[in-house]
Amino acid sequence: MTKVAMPISNHFCPQTLFLYGTYREDGTPNFGLFCWISYFWEDELGVMACLGGQKLTKDRIRQTGEFSANLVIEALLPLADACGNIPGTDPAKRAIQPDTIPGQVLHVPILNESPWSFELQVIREIPLQGSDIFLCKIRNILADERLADETKTIQERLQSIAPISTTCQTYFSFTGKSLGMWGEPQQAYRKQAG
Ligand SMILES: Cc1cc2nc3c(=O)[nH]c(=O)nc-3n(C[C@H](O)[C@H](O)[C@H](O)COP(=O)(O)O)c2cc1C
Repeated sequence: MTKVAMPISNHFCPQTLFLYGTYREDGTPNFGLFCWISYFWEDELGVMACLGGQKLTKDRIRQTGEFSANLVIEALLPLADACGNIPGTDPAKRAIQPDTIPGQVLHVPILNESPWSFELQVIREIPLQGSDIFLCKIRNILADERLADETKTIQERLQSIAPISTTCQTYFSFTGKSLGMWGEPQQAYRKQAG
């Protein structure tokens, strides 16, 4: 393979997307879209999430010490893109009220349509210049029951949920098809929501 040096970025390194759910002070759910998420090990599997700048999700995570991380699938993309482009402080975001259920273990909103939701409890916060990393214990996982169907192969189960990935500010389907640039799929959601 012939190698070329590239500017620093994470282009061509596909990332999984999650909608982080928290309750606002008035008890209504709020969701933000996030891709800087990975895992660590400390006696058990944990989740590490990096949140940049100032955003409602970060304020609520700090205040409550908990949040949900809901896997984004194709069916959720218009909603997810809207949540990633409208700040929680914008009154327009209050109109986004997806179907949720309460967490089983933590006081967090779970997106009904997401097939895999982590209930996360923050155990440590690492402040950086311009962002903060939250290390979290996974207190519960709520999954679509079809993912527990061991008569199906892993490939069949993964294909059936159609998770989204992103790189180069573009969304991709599980099969590698482009689903639009960041900011595009939300147009369908805004039209639907009127
Ligand atoms: C595709 C995509 C991925 C994003 N990933 C992150 C991320 O990993 N960390 C972050 O701080 N913000 C990320 N954002 C930005 C937040 O989703 C955005 O600031 C959102 O408005 C926050 O909503 P909130 O104010 O309700 O928390 C992402 C946005 C998009 C469109």
